[in-house]
Amino acid sequence: MGDPGIPSPNTVGAGTLADSQKLASILRVCQRMNSERDLNTLLDLVVVEAARLLDCERGSIFLFTSTRDELVSRIALGSEQTIRVRAGVGIVGAVASSGEAIVVNDAYSDPRFFQGVDNTSGYRTRNMLALPLIAADGESIGAFEILNKRTGAYTPEDVQIGLSLAANAALAIQNAQMIGELRRHRAALETENRNLLRELGGRLPAQSLLGLSPQIEALRTLIERVSDADVTVLITGESGTGKDLVARSIHFASPRARGPFVALNCAALPETLVETELFGVEKGVATGVERRIGKFESAHGGTLFLDEIGDLSTMAQAKILRVLQERTVERIGGRNPVPIDVRIIAATNKDVESAILKGQFREDLYYRLNVVRLRTPALREIGQDVPLLASYFLGEAAREMKREGLELSAPALAAIRTFPWPGNVRQLQNEMRRAVVCAHGPSIELSDLSEALQSTARETLSTIEPAAVPEPSSAPSASTQARSLQDEVEELEKRRIRDALNACGFNQVRTARQLGLSRQGLINKLKRYNIVAPNSGDSSPEPEENGNQTE
Ligand SMILES: Nc1ncnc2c1ncn2[C@@H]1O[C@H](COP(=O)(O)OP(=O)(O)OP(=O)(O)O)[C@@H](O)[C@H]1O
Ligand SMILES: [Mg+2]
Repeated sequence: MGDPGIPSPNTVGAGTLADSQKLASILRVCQRMNSERDLNTLLDLVVVEAARLLDCERGSIFLFTSTRDELVSRIALGSEQTIRVRAGVGIVGAVASSGEAIVVNDAYSDPRFFQGVDNTSGYRTRNMLALPLIAADGESIGAFEILNKRTGAYTPEDVQIGLSLAANAALAIQNAQMIGELRRHRAALETENRNLLRELGGRLPAQSLLGLSPQIEALRTLIERVSDADVTVLITGESGTGKDLVARSIHFASPRARGPFVALNCAALPETLVETELFGVEKGVATGVERRIGKFESAHGGTLFLDEIGDLSTMAQAKILRVLQERTVERIGGRNPVPIDVRIIAATNKDVESAILKGQFREDLYYRLNVVRLRTPALREIGQDVPLLASYFLGEAAREMKREGLELSAPALAAIRTFPWPGNVRQLQNEMRRAVVCAHGPSIELSDLSEALQSTARETLSTIEPAAVPEPSSAPSASTQARSLQDEVEELEKRRIRDALNACGFNQVRTARQLGLSRQGLINKLKRYNIVAPNSGDSSPEPEENGNQTE
């Protein structure tokens, strides 16, 4: 307070009842300031309360801009105007730069007073108390002025009250600014996180195709072959046999992997929505209609998976055929055809050939889709893969339900092996989920399986000749048999890894991709199984793709 205009503090009013009431009032205001998190509400509170406590007409708070070359009024009681002042200019500028308070008892006779603001606002400033806002680190963040004391001149006590309020206000403002900054930062991170998750959700295949049976091996080889070629693929197979999984595997192994994978469930496509869903709508086609992109356009640069193609209506079949022929789409209400670059993968569990014979499916569309055909085997055809799949689904369910480490007991495994699984892989998946829920011990017992599996197991046992049933004492313990499942799975895994390494010339990146593993995942397995590649062949700098599937 080096300014000569400031009355020196004295003992005016010390100890009176009015003083203690005022002090209590100041404390209350400070408490409210400290608990206010919203910057604008806080600024408002500071100005209103300061004007009230000092019996003034108006007040304003000026804060430095981020470049600190200007002060901007953030709140001005009684005025809507935003006032900008160059740093160091006028009374507010001087206070904010020097950190010292200034009292002006007759504004128009003070050469530092800038009359421009009054000229624009039409308000006449008579007197003013300007106070610095000093942050916790001692840096000035702006200034705070109150105008036109209603009666008399500013007293030393007024200055003290003003300084106390300003000191408290500066800290509260800084806190509110930091909280606002953190909130904005958090909101930005949340948005970014949501976008990334959405993007990842559509990009990463949930899992890779498991199985070592000749049927699955053959399917895997075909997937690899068709991935690179941009041909249309038709996947057929019973319900729940991995058609979706195969479609995604093709997309993510193809050069379009970084483009979108868009799935359209044709069975859930009502006649009335076919065109909107497939081709999109131009804005304003009808009142209030917003522009909407269709599935074909959404899949541009990527793959469009037409699922359940056997359920397409005749009208939809005709529309899709036209797009496949012309490679363009026309939005409803659009003027020009939009070219599209989309790879089509279709799937069905229906017998399309007999649908053609019955006149329910267009032959010309069928031939366009059926350029390469893949068939997913039913579970009953890949019995040898049942233990591997069961063990995978068990691990998946146990992880989800926080029951890691659960194992299949020997009788439970035997029941799963011998059960005549019809076709849908989901049945085995659900059986494992159910078992994880039912199991209370460290392993899944026969009694934790569904009644169907238990009764098959009982029937199988009862058909074995009594002599063939080993004596209880000589029967291998449950843990030895459970161990044998693990050995079996490991044996299969080792064989697959060796075969893949051979097929890929011991190139780890390619081998990992073929096995649906990340490169690190492959390296971990090589270490675990002590498999040493003669020459890792990794000198070729092939980039690892984004499809770092889980093991
Ligand atoms: N060989 C496999 N390896 C790993 N998981 C598999 C395999 N086959 C099927 N699954 C799993 O079984 C479930 C059903 O597979 P998917 O949805 O791909 O079958 P779908 O043929 O598309 O079924 P739907 O006909 O009902 O549409 C999925 O959870 C899938 O991951
Ligand atoms: Mg499916």
